[in-house]
Amino acid sequence: MTDAQLLLGQTLAFDADPFATPPEAAATWRRRGGVVVREGRIVAVGEADDLRRAHPRAQIHDHGEALISAGFVDAHVHYPQTAIIASWGKQLIDWLNSYTFPEEMRFGDARFAAETAARYLDLVLACGTTTVASFCTVHPESVDAFFSEARARGLRALAGKTCMDRNAPEGLLDSAQSAYDDSRRLLEKWHGKDRLSYVITPRFAPTSTPEQLEALGALWAEHPECPMQTHLSEQLPEIDWVRRLFPEARDYLDSYERFGLLGENALYGHAIHLTGRERARLREVGAALIHCPTSNSFIGSGLFDMAGLTAEGQRIGLATDTGGGSSFSMLRTMAAAYEIGQLRGSALHPAQLWWLATQGSARALRLEGCIGNLAPGMEADLVILDLASTPAIAQRAARAESFWEQLFPTIMMGDERAVRAVWVNGAPLVRGG
Ligand code: GUN
Ligand code: ZN
Repeated sequence: MTDAQLLLGQTLAFDADPFATPPEAAATWRRRGGVVVREGRIVAVGEADDLRRAHPRAQIHDHGEALISAGFVDAHVHYPQTAIIASWGKQLIDWLNSYTFPEEMRFGDARFAAETAARYLDLVLACGTTTVASFCTVHPESVDAFFSEARARGLRALAGKTCMDRNAPEGLLDSAQSAYDDSRRLLEKWHGKDRLSYVITPRFAPTSTPEQLEALGALWAEHPECPMQTHLSEQLPEIDWVRRLFPEARDYLDSYERFGLLGENALYGHAIHLTGRERARLREVGAALIHCPTSNSFIGSGLFDMAGLTAEGQRIGLATDTGGGSSFSMLRTMAAAYEIGQLRGSALHPAQLWWLATQGSARALRLEGCIGNLAPGMEADLVILDLASTPAIAQRAARAESFWEQLFPTIMMGDERAVRAVWVNGAPLVRGG
């Protein structure tokens, strides 16, 4: 058995859902805590002194006043959009046609795909994100590239080939049959290898024919162990378009459900403009809604109803939605979620924001038993954060009278300068490597 590693610092762990219990009671913060890691897993979390006594041979990594947390979990991204992040002036459909689709055309080139996947993963690791669920492009090469680069870094990662057989440029279209065949082959190749999960991925209802949605629904029925990810009710013109394309469907959600694309392992990005029926059905099934706040303001989509949806007991994750989202950082994403909450009249507590970016997103991905928290048995994906990383943050944190007040300036103003170290699968990443 290899020697244990003992990380010391402030620690933050969750014992409960801070939307279902008083937020501060849902978390355990230790001013001088520790995390013991051995063979890729967390084996103990507790007071620093107790852990030092219990693990006298452990190699010590003393992070002083810095905060040790579970690594961030980003539940909805498009890694192929890395190079078109922050593209100006368009709303959803025009943004897809002007920026996204031309960029995605390049991913038939395996070398280009590998280079982008590597750059993307290094960018998010620098932000403290240790798991992402990514859309790829229509090209199988884009999936192989992403999983190969994630595997080379020891990451837990989820991804799938984005299927489209209408309403996109010719070079990005597959067919109902090839979407099924390619997805199945990629699923068999990658799902469950090391820390990788394949996600069945129809892009969204407007870019799939009913035949393609049906084929992917059939694949999901054959592989219910895989998640299914897509987009739902992001912008009003998109919802009108779905109504015209699927006149028989009761609503947007029904354009998926009719084809077997609704289930407890479903991940719906955005989910802003939902009807009462859709909300009730999503709740009944236990599907996950993925909130993408920087994207929703950047593309002009609308204000996600976090307070209402959490009060109903919906399963909710948090995500950057890179490159519709304007940041790779889950700190910036938490800040945007706070701002959207404020615009709807409710202030999310820092414990709720942090939980969404870690355990909440892990729960949305149904990986809460593996990642997203500091607890014995969890995989050791960690981020260590300096809570005084810039002069502006430091001077505000110095006034704090509680841990949450100390944490909040890093949530609102922090970026990758706050990230002191990142551990993946029980080992520290070498900075810049
Ligand atoms: N809806 C369908 N495709 C996309 C995408 O790539 N980004 C966003 N934000 N919404 C989408
Ligand atoms: Zn998306």
